[in-house]
Amino acid sequence: MQTRGAIVRQAPGKYEVVDLNVDDPRPGEVQVKLVASGLCHSDDHIATGDIPVGVYPFAGGHEGAGIVTAAPPNHKGIKEGDHVVFSFLPSCGHCRWCASGQQNLCDLGAGLLAGTRWEEPTTRLQLLDGTPVGQMCGISTFVETTTVSADSVVKVPEDLPLDKICLLGCNVGTGWGAAVNSAQVQPGHTVIVMGIGGVGINAVQGAAHAGAANIIAVDPVALKRENATQLGATHGVETMEEATELAQQFTNGQGADSAIITVGVIKPEYVGQAMASIRKAGTVVVTALGNIADTTPLPVSLADVTLFQKRIQGSLFGESNPNWDILRQIELYRAGILKLDEVITTTYTLDQVGEGYEAMHAGTNQKGVIVYS
Ligand SMILES: NC(=O)c1ccc[n+]([C@@H]2O[C@H](COP(=O)([O-])OP(=O)(O)OC[C@H]3O[C@@H](n4cnc5c(N)ncnc54)[C@H](O)[C@@H]3O)[C@@H](O)[C@H]2O)c1
Ligand SMILES: [Zn+2]
Ligand SMILES: [Zn+2]
Repeated sequence: MQTRGAIVRQAPGKYEVVDLNVDDPRPGEVQVKLVASGLCHSDDHIATGDIPVGVYPFAGGHEGAGIVTAAPPNHKGIKEGDHVVFSFLPSCGHCRWCASGQQNLCDLGAGLLAGTRWEEPTTRLQLLDGTPVGQMCGISTFVETTTVSADSVVKVPEDLPLDKICLLGCNVGTGWGAAVNSAQVQPGHTVIVMGIGGVGINAVQGAAHAGAANIIAVDPVALKRENATQLGATHGVETMEEATELAQQFTNGQGADSAIITVGVIKPEYVGQAMASIRKAGTVVVTALGNIADTTPLPVSLADVTLFQKRIQGSLFGESNPNWDILRQIELYRAGILKLDEVITTTYTLDQVGEGYEAMHAGTNQKGVIVYS
């Protein structure tokens, strides 16, 4: 069938909305009409070329929710009419990683940026002239109707607002999980969150839910620092130098228990700053992405690693198990503990996707979401 979606033709490039053909779902796949899609910085990395992909043109978007419009037989028993949140990382349920409670590392993730189906090198989207169009994370939530593997969706209760819980498909799992799973925040901890965008604001929430006593939000943008203090941060500062000084004040000079890096574009020196801010045996969580081809050495002292036992922990989707974490985050949302409505400051139409990314760069929205008509 015909649909519309936001694609980049090459990188660097800009998202433009075009008519597309979307294939009917095959066994094991579902077709979904999007209700909403968040604007995550990772789709901007695709446009800038920081993250190269396998097929151009490439349709963006990986943080969405919608209603199933067609569902051939599939192993998850998903049917037409079901409400689903996309998980930007698919999980097969039976590989080593899925079986050991690390669904975020599912082997299917290996094909995520190829733009094609993991099992064969074709795409499910095309331009109207037949040119194949790659799918972000195998899903592409900047498309009105998309065809995806059943492994990429999680069925959710139907009474929830899909234009809010779409954030569970990336930013919540990524940020909340960075604090709860990767930093292993404990009651009484002092936590620094560096960069308060869609991901960082959820790292602040995760740290608060885990009982941190001091949560220091770092962002040069005043609006982000204010929003962070509304959602659990105890302090908001502009620089890591200020954050480090504060953390040392709270810990008798030792430093923060953890520092979570959630800036828009990571640079090696940020890891050095975060390492300098934490205590012995503390944890730096690296969540942010940048130019993924960059192999510049990290300015990190080996003595910090060996003699002070400081840990650098990478974090993909917050080390989440989407088939469980999305459902427990829904319960936190229902209980009023996890805030989503407050995080979404601006909504856009699909045609306004470029405007949404301009606002992200200008720092004028906390989190932008495309709401489909
Ligand atoms: N690891 C994962 O699984 C995963 C998943 C999703 C997103 N990401 C990545 O996480 C990062 C954040 O994404 P987002 O959507 O929240 O981005 P965003 O643009 O909404 O937020 C980034 C924030 O960082 C702030 N910032 C920039 N430089 C800073 C600095 N030096 N110090 C402090 N703050 C600074 C900005 O003002 C902004 O508020 C991106 O790199 C994205 O690609 C990673
Ligand atoms: Zn994302
Ligand atoms: Zn798996």
